[in-house]
Amino acid sequence: MNFIELKNINKSYGKNQQYKVLKGINLTIQQGESVAIVGKSGSGKSTLMHILALLDIPTSGSIVLNSMEIEALKEKKVNQIRNEQFGFVFQQFFMKPKDTVLNNVLLPLQIASESYKLSAKQRKIKVLEALEAVDLKEKALSRAADLSGGQKQRVCIARALVNNPGVIFADEPTGNLDSKTSDKIQTLLFDINKAKGITLVVVTHDDDFAKKFDRQFYLQDGEIIKEYSNDN
Ligand SMILES: Nc1ncnc2c1ncn2[C@@H]1O[C@H](COP(=O)(O)OP(=O)(O)OP(=O)(O)O)[C@@H](O)[C@H]1O
Ligand SMILES: [Mg+2]
Repeated sequence: MNFIELKNINKSYGKNQQYKVLKGINLTIQQGESVAIVGKSGSGKSTLMHILALLDIPTSGSIVLNSMEIEALKEKKVNQIRNEQFGFVFQQFFMKPKDTVLNNVLLPLQIASESYKLSAKQRKIKVLEALEAVDLKEKALSRAADLSGGQKQRVCIARALVNNPGVIFADEPTGNLDSKTSDKIQTLLFDINKAKGITLVVVTHDDDFAKKFDRQFYLQDGEIIKEYSNDN
């Protein structure tokens, strides 16, 4: 069964919607799959990912998640799905630099706390487990600002993991990192995908990284021009 399905998605901006950013996007993602969205700057990758992650609404077309038509759901339900089932590694979601690593990773649990009803202690245990998964447990009480770039990126991954999501969306998770740190982040993301069965959707303009995913969608001027599968 298809887990996430986009049907004829269009996204336009401007007064008369004259600026078409996404044009008739059709794609499906299966549960547990790793998927890369690749393309040049301005091709619409982030826009597409925001729509997949239910952070933005398309101008037309439909999104089906787990057989649910998203448009038919109330906003509250969509927010709940996003908070409880999705994890995000987005560069524009900055960490709170003056706060500790622990508090930064805690954030998604506080947002979802209404439905989860976890005690403070249970939340802390989950945060420490997520930090352990990215090998940063010993930095839990450090200020986020004091970490290196690669460590900050791992904190973002821990924060995405803490809710035990079904899907992790990552926009350029290896951007601005040196090649060695980038390799570490790549390995970490694929380990999470394989070990926990978390679906992985990643935007990248790094072709070598993209080739390691189960499937790759190539975007050009808002259209998918190529789709590849790794059958190994
Ligand atoms: N809110 C907006 N209003 C108007 N135009 C927008 C808006 N958001 C994005 N765009 C335009 O849509 C196009 C695609 O943007 P998008 O951010 O999806 O590109 P991208 O492929 O992620 O690029 P990059 O690799 O540089 O991050 C760009 O031309 C951008 O200017
Ligand atoms: Mg982008």
